[in-house]
Amino acid sequence: MKNRVDVLHGVNLDQLGRRDPNVYGGGTLSELQTRVKGFAGELGLETTFWQTNHEGEYCESLHIASERADGLILNPGAWTHYSYAIRDALEVSGLPAVEVHLSEVDSREDWRRKSVIGDLCVGRVQGKGVEGYREALELLKAQLGS
Ligand code: DQA
Repeated sequence: MKNRVDVLHGVNLDQLGRRDPNVYGGGTLSELQTRVKGFAGELGLETTFWQTNHEGEYCESLHIASERADGLILNPGAWTHYSYAIRDALEVSGLPAVEVHLSEVDSREDWRRKSVIGDLCVGRVQGKGVEGYREALELLKAQLGS
């Protein structure tokens, strides 16, 4: 059964709780992870969480993702909008991925509308806060047929 999901958070997501609560909500990353683990449990999925502020580490995490996971939830933060290195590393992973953003990136600055990973992902959820991760897990579960 394919039910292992890696949730990879990128640059500045460790600062949740300090970033603008009107945009990102007031919770910390640790609180977010606890809630997402709960959503995953309800769906019969197992989650592992990773966060880094270093782009190369994020890429390396994608390189080895298929050794431990069946699918990915990615919130690369600002890297989403310009990191072709992360795009290439995602392609290397060969795993189905859903892109998630807490905020509604399409309604913010122009530069946030672009995603360099979007076309490699099986789905994209934005602007729904932590609840968006539930939707992402549901999309991934359907994709994994688990
Ligand atoms: C974000 C949106 C990005 O534009 C931003 O750089 C982030 C967080 C989100 O979850 O809304 O760091 O990915």
